[in-house]
Amino acid sequence: MSQTKDKLLKYQHLKEDIKQKIYNGVYTVGQCLPSERQLSEEYSISRMTVRRTIGELQDEGVLYRLQGKGTFISATKIMQPMSKITSFTDDMRARGMVPDAKILMLDTIPANELIAEKLQCKQGADVILLKRLRLADNEPMAIETLYLQHAICHPIIDKISQGTSIYSLLKQELHINLVKAFQSIEIMPLQKWEANMLGNDDLDSAMYIQRQTFDEQNRAVEYVESKYRGDRYKFYVEMSGA
Ligand code: GLP
Repeated sequence: MSQTKDKLLKYQHLKEDIKQKIYNGVYTVGQCLPSERQLSEEYSISRMTVRRTIGELQDEGVLYRLQGKGTFISATKIMQPMSKITSFTDDMRARGMVPDAKILMLDTIPANELIAEKLQCKQGADVILLKRLRLADNEPMAIETLYLQHAICHPIIDKISQGTSIYSLLKQELHINLVKAFQSIEIMPLQKWEANMLGNDDLDSAMYIQRQTFDEQNRAVEYVESKYRGDRYKFYVEMSGA
């Protein structure tokens, strides 16, 4: 076997083994990983290879490093299905987590071309702009920028400013049932302040999600652009045969 192939196999083995130990519960959330030296001896690979493996697992969100303290096992990612129109609040509560929203901006602004197209209103029409940091159990998860049609949602502005769940306000106060949404996901760079606000200065990109949501009358009620932490989230869909 060539030396490169052998190296690759050993490195792959270490990577899979760490993941397997997390899966089996041998390594638990928050536990400190053995030192680079210990791992290099145990797996008979160079410390450089160990470092590279750890770096990759960090990028994947499996491990995190604390300066001067060591490398630790991350909490498992939040598995978010994409088949239902659910709110952040309900999603977190369903997992037994406490949802929160820190309002970064709340304003009424004229719709630009993009927002007017997404909300299917006239360019220049009033729209409510709400920017929030979303937290679960006090941990930052996403930054959401949400637009709502002012003509439809102005009665709930006061309650929005109190941090109440938007979907519960739409349902309970305005009797709006959200029945259809278009959602896309792509990778987007994060600005420094965004990474900082998301609690991880090392993050340089996030999962960028756009959602346009409609009610029973086919009105585009909300348009949302969110940046979700890729190290904490995994989105998935259930598929059926063709
Ligand atoms: C999720 C959706 C957003 C929606 C939000 C409402 O995060 N991706 O499109 O606006 O939930 O959340 P809440 O009802 O908690 O304010």
